[in-house]
Amino acid sequence: MRPPVSPATVVAAVAGSPVRHSLSPLMHNTWIAAAGLDAVYVAFELQSERFEAFVEGLRGGMVAGLNITIPFKERALALADRADPLALASGAANLLLFHPDGTIEGRNTDGAGLIGAFQSQAPQLNLASGPVAIFGAGGAARGAAAALMAEGCPEVRVINRTLDRALALAEDMGSNLKAFQEDQADKAIDGAVALINATSLGLGGGPGPAMDWSKASPGAVAMDMVYRPLRTEFLKQAAVNGHATVDGLQMLIGQAVPSFEALFGHPPPQTDVRTLLLAELEP
Ligand code: ATR
Repeated sequence: MRPPVSPATVVAAVAGSPVRHSLSPLMHNTWIAAAGLDAVYVAFELQSERFEAFVEGLRGGMVAGLNITIPFKERALALADRADPLALASGAANLLLFHPDGTIEGRNTDGAGLIGAFQSQAPQLNLASGPVAIFGAGGAARGAAAALMAEGCPEVRVINRTLDRALALAEDMGSNLKAFQEDQADKAIDGAVALINATSLGLGGGPGPAMDWSKASPGAVAMDMVYRPLRTEFLKQAAVNGHATVDGLQMLIGQAVPSFEALFGHPPPQTDVRTLLLAELEP
């Protein structure tokens, strides 16, 4: 039997902090095995002050690329020599590719993951049909706002605890993005066709962003980027109030598909990774 790694093994990784509970290695290695590739996908937990030195040291392509996760997505983009439109629009890259000529390319596949998750779990929703409200104004919210605008969403409303961060986003993204303080959530969700949680609220089982579900439009779809637990309080409340829901696991898988193709030059095989990841999340 061929050993699991060879002198020609292609290496890719997810880099972040914390990253020990990342589902990405399981997902990518499952696809690698199913496709029969000579490749491996590992996780690097990086000390914050060493991030730039680590990435710079990979120029030349000893490692094919890195998926970048919390809290390095903005710093990752700053290290890229070139980047795709969504990474530039959102100011964040979740994928760095190391080319043999020594250059680094930044991409943002989170947007594709978000839009794909809506398409697969709420196919009835047209994201261009009305305003979308996003809770949060960090890197995750930035990526979502840029992706929604690229999708034709007429207005993105960002609700954040720290208003200045939401205002900064509005300044970067133009007049189709409106900033709201936490206590203005009722106004922000009025008439919205989708409500997205891009804060860390709900992670580990706590309450989601504060909002009055009776003020949401009846057909509004709720989406939560938090996927631990899969059924967050935000999604539970949405469902109790009769709203369709989209979960963060689908977005995680959705961002991994174009990442895998870029890293390994091969589309992921038709393997049911969702069932596998669900078993990890809810053993
Ligand atoms: P990410 O890259 O995942 O977006 P981030 O940049 O740290 O991470 O952003 C986290 C988001 O969750 C922010 O919008 C943050 O609000 P602030 O900008 O006010 O910090 C939001 N968030 C985190 N904890 C929160 C809490 N307890 N209440 C309200 N919002 C919270």
